[in-house]
Amino acid sequence: MNSPEQLVEKNSPQHVAIIMDGNGRWAKKKGKIRTFGHKAGVKAVRASVSYALKNGVQVLTLFAFSSENWNRPAEEVGVLMELFKMVLGSEVKKLHKNDVRLNIIGDTSRFDSKLVSKIREAEELTENNDSLVLNIAANYGGRWDIVNAAKQLATQVHTGKIDVADIDEETFSRHTCAADLPAVDLLIRTGGEQRISNFLLWQIAYAELYFSEDFWPDFDEAAFQVAVDVFADRQRRFGKTSEQLS
Ligand code: FPP
Repeated sequence: MNSPEQLVEKNSPQHVAIIMDGNGRWAKKKGKIRTFGHKAGVKAVRASVSYALKNGVQVLTLFAFSSENWNRPAEEVGVLMELFKMVLGSEVKKLHKNDVRLNIIGDTSRFDSKLVSKIREAEELTENNDSLVLNIAANYGGRWDIVNAAKQLATQVHTGKIDVADIDEETFSRHTCAADLPAVDLLIRTGGEQRISNFLLWQIAYAELYFSEDFWPDFDEAAFQVAVDVFADRQRRFGKTSEQLS
């Protein structure tokens, strides 16, 4: 992960993370059931990947399913799982052709074996691609990610592989999801709500936040460009004063 100082001068985001919110409300507005909105959301996923590829975004991380989403009605969870399988089946070749590396971040152990094997196949097929890293956060929670890193480090201390004194922010980062990737520069949330919802808590320490009123299915390349333009006008200070930066 780049240190904040390495990013001070950059005004185009290398790593964009998106909380894709508003599918249910989008569908309701059209008099349809919630899952219609999730299906429509796939088009916006394609648009955001396409924008990222055309505009030099190196990493795009999309929040597809949180650890808390299991609490939704069973039928909605079932449709989302089928949709993930379907999208993996239909999009992976296209992603591979466009040199996109696909990673699923989160606790995949709760998914059914068919979905897990589709995920593994897609990750293996695309592992050497480097035009864009596309992280799909599925059964992901920011607190889970941090606890997981803490457990791994505790095990290493316990077995004598490292000393407590070896643990710093850099080593901790390496045990979180999206390790070895640049920190998030821009976090976008669609759907009009202004909260983080347990997304990448560790990785967004210095991210700029952008909240869009668009429901996710309406978020297109032009809307992505607006978010990037707003980002470009922000002054990222990383704790310094504006005088120090000018
Ligand atoms: C949040 O909207 C959206 C989700 C929980 C699911 C996102 C899934 C997709 C866009 C489909 C496919 C994606 C991939 C990457 C395979 P919401 O249901 O919370 O909307 P609401 O706030 O209006 O209820």
